[in-house]
Amino acid sequence: MKYDLSEINEIIQNRRTIYPEFFSERKVHKEQIEGLLRNATWAPTHGMTQPWRFKVFMGSGLSKLAKFQSELYASITEKEAYNERKFDKLQNRPLKSSAVIAICMQRQKSQKIPEIEEIAAVSCAVQNMLLTGTAYGLAIHWTSSTPTYRTEMKSFLGLENNDRCLGFLYIGYPKDEWPKGQRKPIEYVTDWINE
Ligand SMILES: Cc1cc2nc3c(=O)[nH]c(=O)nc-3n(C[C@H](O)[C@H](O)[C@H](O)COP(=O)(O)O)c2cc1C
Repeated sequence: MKYDLSEINEIIQNRRTIYPEFFSERKVHKEQIEGLLRNATWAPTHGMTQPWRFKVFMGSGLSKLAKFQSELYASITEKEAYNERKFDKLQNRPLKSSAVIAICMQRQKSQKIPEIEEIAAVSCAVQNMLLTGTAYGLAIHWTSSTPTYRTEMKSFLGLENNDRCLGFLYIGYPKDEWPKGQRKPIEYVTDWINE
């Protein structure tokens, strides 16, 4: 065995979504965010396009994001569909976080690599961040909402038309016990084709 698999298994299986309402006051430092980003860039990438791009909101950047995304939600949502709780989450959750990372995919100019593969590569980069965060003991929530996929959000994040925002990571420290998870066993999700 080249690496300690038991530790890797533990990190993978103990990675959990922890919501900002369950973040403590303890602040995550920039160096740790850089650690997440560094590992993100080691994800597999077809054609070495390295399509991941990150916009990190910290300090007063967090209020800027909170204001923008909650106001965007309010302005694009029909009266009948408007949900005050959604607005509040968009406004309050960034402020409960030490950092928020916008997960972005920069589309290759030639578009030779299929877009789904570029999204897959960015998703792998996100998993690297989530696992690294778990090793640091960080609480992270990957979130998406109506504003996430809007062109207004692209402009706010400085993305081009063919680029995409795939969501946001809200990052802090947990204030409570680490949550437990559950998954279907592999028998439910696997077909073996032997002949
Ligand atoms: C692309 C993506 C978007 C997600 N967006 C949300 C979201 O908007 N709100 C939410 O509560 N959870 C969101 N999640 C997190 C899932 O709810 C969470 O991973 C799932 O409940 C399993 O829990 P676990 O991460 O603790 O294993 C998202 C996950 C992914 C992969």
